[in-house]
Amino acid sequence: MKTQVCIIGGGPSGLMLSQLLHLKDIDTIVLERQSREYVLGRIRAGVLEHGFADLMREARCGERMDREGEIHEGFYIAHDGILDRVDLHKYSGGNSVVVYGQTELTRDLYEARDRMQGKVIHNVEGVQLHDIRTAAPYVTYRDGDEIVRIDCDYIIGADGFHGVSRKSIPNNVLVEYERLYPFGWLGVLSRTKPVSPELIYAKHERGFALCSLRSQVLSRYYIQVPLTDSVDGWSDDEFWAELKRRLPEDVAARMETGPSIEKSIAPLRSFVAEPMRYGNLFLAGDAAHIVPPTGARGLNSAASDIYYLYHAMLSSYRDGDDSGLENYSSKALARVWKAQRFSWWMTMLLHTFPNDIPYDQRLQQTDLEYLFSSDKALGSLAENYVGLPF
Ligand code: APR
Ligand code: PHB
Repeated sequence: MKTQVCIIGGGPSGLMLSQLLHLKDIDTIVLERQSREYVLGRIRAGVLEHGFADLMREARCGERMDREGEIHEGFYIAHDGILDRVDLHKYSGGNSVVVYGQTELTRDLYEARDRMQGKVIHNVEGVQLHDIRTAAPYVTYRDGDEIVRIDCDYIIGADGFHGVSRKSIPNNVLVEYERLYPFGWLGVLSRTKPVSPELIYAKHERGFALCSLRSQVLSRYYIQVPLTDSVDGWSDDEFWAELKRRLPEDVAARMETGPSIEKSIAPLRSFVAEPMRYGNLFLAGDAAHIVPPTGARGLNSAASDIYYLYHAMLSSYRDGDDSGLENYSSKALARVWKAQRFSWWMTMLLHTFPNDIPYDQRLQQTDLEYLFSSDKALGSLAENYVGLPF
């Protein structure tokens, strides 16, 4: 097979790029290790910055998001028994975020790819990247006993944190930066009315908690747990009781509870791999960087990669101008690191750290007091949460 751009990974990053390029008559093939059902069964976060929402519209996939997604102009931080609101709209100069599940967004992207007869090949095994430093790179995968070869101009590594693309960059070139946090988030999805129309991030000495939602009948809640905990160790009743303990009394009192329809634990990790380009391989999204979910930056961090890559590829194919491709890594990383800083900061601000000395605890408390006493600090939080410009 032959294509212009071979995209490894059929998550939001790969699908979005494929869709955008297709609309400009640039041919792509997407290779996805899992089945479509599996990909669409993963429950992921649900806050989109306006830049990502704009990309969805540009990719002609924004219709359902605009109909069913909720515009949020603020969120709450619960601490010391009270709720403080962060007015995103006011402090970011009129911006907001869209609450729309990443699973739904991925479904919309797949449907758009189907409508345009986009080539997305599922259940591919043993993907390998070849000759990535040459002008004629290619990708192979196994289909039963056969090895299938795809020749292309460029390879996009959009295959997530555990993918094969990043590992194809030699060790003496790739530099990885990582911070692991000593806790995870236990998440529960339930068919209950959300306790608050806007998200509540709760700082509590027993540990962080988050009240989020997918719609007015579907809630998503999280609590900070030790990494040694397992999902089986948490009954629904225990989860609800612990969540309520970490929220202000009036919020806990109006919490609607019910059976969980999904329950999982995710460790928190910060990670960046540099460079994001090696020859004709370009990394995008989780393949190159991971943030802890506290600042809702995961998918949004991928958005700028896709935006830069899309425009770089367009200039290259349309005008023969390769400067966007040359600059991709440094440009993408500059924004990636800002999302890293913000996600790290929000994580440090709101979680309980098992080995914190009293001095650290007082600093954390002071950080929060400063935040709600300074319009400039709130402005900084708001501009990062709605998404820095691309
Ligand atoms: N070959 C083919 N596909 C692969 C391979 C491989 N060797 N390894 C992984 N994949 C697929 C995965 O099955 C997954 O569907 O690549 C896809 C990567 O998708 P995501 O992990 O969703 O990453 P990305 O598209 O960059 O989306 C970023 O997703 O994980 C969240 O927080 C993250 O919100 C962010 C967003
Ligand atoms: C979610 O709804 O899953 C969610 C929302 C905000 C976050 C993280 C996760 O910061």
